[in-house]
Amino acid sequence: MASGQLSREEALACSGCRHACHVMLYADTTSKLFGRTPIRHIVLMQMRFDGLLGFPGGLVNPAEESLEAGLSRELLEELGLEIPITEEDYVETCYAPALSWTAKSKLILHFYVKKMEEEQIKEVERAAASTAVDHGLEVMGMVRVPLFRTNHDGGLSFFLSHSFIGNARSQLINSLLRLHLISPQNLAKALRKSLG
Ligand code: APR
Ligand code: MG
Ligand code: MG
Repeated sequence: MASGQLSREEALACSGCRHACHVMLYADTTSKLFGRTPIRHIVLMQMRFDGLLGFPGGLVNPAEESLEAGLSRELLEELGLEIPITEEDYVETCYAPALSWTAKSKLILHFYVKKMEEEQIKEVERAAASTAVDHGLEVMGMVRVPLFRTNHDGGLSFFLSHSFIGNARSQLINSLLRLHLISPQNLAKALRKSLG
């Protein structure tokens, strides 16, 4: 287990801790940028109210709801759609980076990944920009992660140079590798060129 990580059971046993759940929604696609560069995968993140990039989701209260029910509730608010999340979508749990800890209580982060069909992802994007109650408030908009590199080292390297909430940047990088959404070589190139 990597440093800062803990098991779901250990996390739920912490009485004074706060909990948050976030999810990376993604789909395969055959569409091509400029009609020639395959996009291959759509990976969704969001521009948050605080100007940072992050994943959809939020604070949950395990005393009142399961982690997955709490995450689904947050997704309804932020994305405007019912997206059932189950334990099968669960990836890992870790402590939030020290800066996010308040004097009151530690924040524990649970991370999920869910694969969808391209049409479902498009529906999420439409709903998030129209019916979602948090649109323009907690969530400024959904963004797709550019997984390709352009001639000028743009694409993923520039995307990774933005500022991210908590450990969202490493959650993204780890997920891209684990799910084989990018090759280790291309990721390494993007990381070398990223300004972050
Ligand atoms: N990795 C690590 N930490 C994260 C991530 C992430 N990917 N995403 C969010 N966090 C942290 C943030 O620091 C945040 O404080 O988890 C906390 C809860 O996540 P949010 O999605 O911001 O919570 P949400 O319930 O949607 O919003 C409710 O939380 O950020 C506060 O005051 C803000 O009113 C807002 C409230
Ligand atoms: Mg929220
Ligand atoms: Mg949120």
